Amino acid sequence: MPITGKLKLKSNLILAPMAGISDLPYRMLNRKFGAELAFTEMVNARSLSYSNVKALEMLSSAKGDRPLGIQLVGNEPEYLNRAIEKLHKYKFDILDFNAACPERKVTAKGEGAALLKDLSKFKRLLKILVRESKWPVTVKIRAGWDKNTINAKDAALCAEDTGVSAIFIHGRTRNQLYSGHVDYRVIKEVKDAVKVPVIGSGDVLSGPLAKKMFDETGCDGILIARGALGNPWIFREIDAYLKGGAIPERPSKDAVIKTMKYHLNSCIACSGAKRSIPSFRKFFCWYTKGLDNVRPLRVKACAASTKKEMLAAIKEIKSPQN
Ligand SMILES: Cc1cc2nc3c(=O)[nH]c(=O)nc-3n(C[C@H](O)[C@H](O)[C@H](O)COP(=O)(O)O)c2cc1C
Repeated sequence: MPITGKLKLKSNLILAPMAGISDLPYRMLNRKFGAELAFTEMVNARSLSYSNVKALEMLSSAKGDRPLGIQLVGNEPEYLNRAIEKLHKYKFDILDFNAACPERKVTAKGEGAALLKDLSKFKRLLKILVRESKWPVTVKIRAGWDKNTINAKDAALCAEDTGVSAIFIHGRTRNQLYSGHVDYRVIKEVKDAVKVPVIGSGDVLSGPLAKKMFDETGCDGILIARGALGNPWIFREIDAYLKGGAIPERPSKDAVIKTMKYHLNSCIACSGAKRSIPSFRKFFCWYTKGLDNVRPLRVKACAASTKKEMLAAIKEIKSPQN
């Protein structure tokens, strides 16, 4: 799927940007299982322009972590300009602008999904990004702010007019956050309205749901978000399902344990044990979804504060009770 003439992707199954999740170890893990294009966590333009340490850390990448998109959020031209200047010292393939984040702390500043309430500002900002960025610019939007103001089609047309190379659309409104179901019709409406590639997002949780997204919307690619939490195998499952091939069996407990250890070790190599162990607890819970008698194991993992303790909890997944 060509996102632009230059960046052609072998796969249209894309790892979604996820704040607090899609760091370098997470991206590398999902790439092993078939994700091709991936995105950094959302980076705030103002923080980046002040060289905030956390914002700079989010730009970390490594050999093999390509193609890679950087996702920026912001609404002040000055800071977007300064952020781009900083970013140009790094290697990315795409610059994605976030007009989709529903979090109050983001929208209260007029950023993220709040830009859907002010399409002239949205357009002004995208024009700046398209003009200043040395990479193709894409944009991520939602269906609209709320059910009474669904305007994804207008937003997509504005975005296309500025010269963006692709549009990512999460088919929920800002007010829905992550609840309810994705609205395929609004994604189809966007797809029918613009010529640039449209990538659908929302409820891509399995092979059949991935197919539903393609069939109902005609989209060019799909974003995989919550479906990949503790489940990087989803990429090969969806791929096999879409190709009509045999669906790979669910991973064995040994395979899950091996993947968890790989993931944990790469987090520690990247950020050290002190930071990685607490942030791995949520992944532990996702990886163990569906196992029998999982509560005591999760209690153990959530109390773990050293690598040894976390590894002991991971090892117990194989105990006969689970
Ligand atoms: C924990 C979490 C963090 C997210 N962070 C971002 C983000 O930083 N930028 C973004 O564009 N979307 C973000 N999203 C939205 C996803 O990219 C995706 O559009 C949304 O989850 C819908 O897909 P799903 O129903 O398959 O999860 C986030 C979603 C989750 C669950």
